[in-house]
Amino acid sequence: MWHGKMYRDLFSSSLRVLHNINSTAEKGAVATALSVTRTFTSLEQADARERNRSVTSFYNQPAIDAAADKPAVRLSPTTLLYSGKSPDGNHILRSAQYLHKELPVRVAHRIVAFRGLPFIVGCNPTILQVHELYIRAFHLTSEFPPIRDFEDEQKYSQMVRGLLDDHKDVVTMLAEGFKESRRHIKDEQLVRRFLDNTLTSRLALRMLAEHHLALKIERPHHVGIINTQMSLRKVVDNWVDFSQKLSESKYGYFPNVKLKGHVNATFPYIQVPLDYILPELLKNAMRATMEANLDNPNNVPDISLTIANNDNDFIIRISDRGGGIPHPDVHKVFQYHYTTSGRVDDDRVSRGIFGEMMNSDQQGPGGGPMHGFGFGLPTADAYAKFLGGSLEIQSMQGIGSDTYLRLRHIDGKFESFRI
Ligand SMILES: Nc1ncnc2c1ncn2[C@@H]1O[C@H](COP(=O)(O)OP(=O)(O)OP(=O)(O)O)[C@@H](O)[C@H]1O
Ligand SMILES: [Mg+2]
Repeated sequence: MWHGKMYRDLFSSSLRVLHNINSTAEKGAVATALSVTRTFTSLEQADARERNRSVTSFYNQPAIDAAADKPAVRLSPTTLLYSGKSPDGNHILRSAQYLHKELPVRVAHRIVAFRGLPFIVGCNPTILQVHELYIRAFHLTSEFPPIRDFEDEQKYSQMVRGLLDDHKDVVTMLAEGFKESRRHIKDEQLVRRFLDNTLTSRLALRMLAEHHLALKIERPHHVGIINTQMSLRKVVDNWVDFSQKLSESKYGYFPNVKLKGHVNATFPYIQVPLDYILPELLKNAMRATMEANLDNPNNVPDISLTIANNDNDFIIRISDRGGGIPHPDVHKVFQYHYTTSGRVDDDRVSRGIFGEMMNSDQQGPGGGPMHGFGFGLPTADAYAKFLGGSLEIQSMQGIGSDTYLRLRHIDGKFESFRI
């Protein structure tokens, strides 16, 4: 552990210097700094050496800057849907060629954002680790040879799959990294802007990558990640079931969820973002319900979930009777890292379910365990906005909360969003 930390500290200073190199002389100094790190790691730690080599040896600032100067080419869901399905599979080649151009640009934008963080934050080992992941992703995506045939496409898809896997814990890592370092940051807006942009851009990148991989699989009513006949109820049922299992593992019981409204609605949509947002809202409602009824855990009030569907948008309202949010805290719940997790001074909670629900190895779709970081609502809010929608909470202090998620249809009159 000690060597690991020392390595990270050394590497961190090298990388920080690297951010600002402009002149050849500085580049020489950086090369020396990096070789010092390399010498150290070669003596001390084989895995660290490998990681170090792989990141520092391909750090190519001019290439990153050139890519970052280009704008992202954002596609609407309709473009994804109608970009054509040719029997010879040419649409798959075209999709890979689009990604091949697009991924380095978007990854470069992220790297520039990491460079723009205050020095003290960028040096945080966990944040630096995520920064490194993006630098690696830039290297892999920008140096991949042009995709000319299906053999190239296969290799490309394999690389993209690997990247999706490498980046799966990024949300948790950012939550941890910022938790450790945010006390050094005076400008709260800076943290919010960085996290909103990084998380939504990550969502978009994952949607594009998953869309390409899904195009290669034949599924009824699907074009890539677009489900042309999505049953909102089925998606909701799945996450209700997931959250109830978590609740049961923590508290021994779970609230029933009553579905109302347009439960039979089906329409074209992309399930991926719902898979990030819905579990966060349901976990919150279940936690509030269970913790407001610790004396009667086997007889807690139901949660009602109402679906409304219209030509422009669809709305999900989750109403719980979990006591609501205290007046002084209402404005805080959408802040990153605001959490009351761990505050309940009741042995039944601290030894029981919610600790586990948040601290278990449960791999949530949002990218791993959340540990009660206070990331659920701000992340869901950023995603809802990215999707051209909104997330609101109305609290009736003493009774419970109503959470409204509104999202635009992708085949409605107005443009929904661009990925
Ligand atoms: N339905 C609700 N009823 C009462 N309080 C709520 C409800 N939803 C959220 N809160 C309050 O808002 C806080 C922030 O919620 P958020 O989902 O962002 O973080 P968390 O649930 O504490 O942790 P995480 O979601 O990262 O695991 C919660 O800790 C809780 O105090
Ligand atoms: Mg939560």
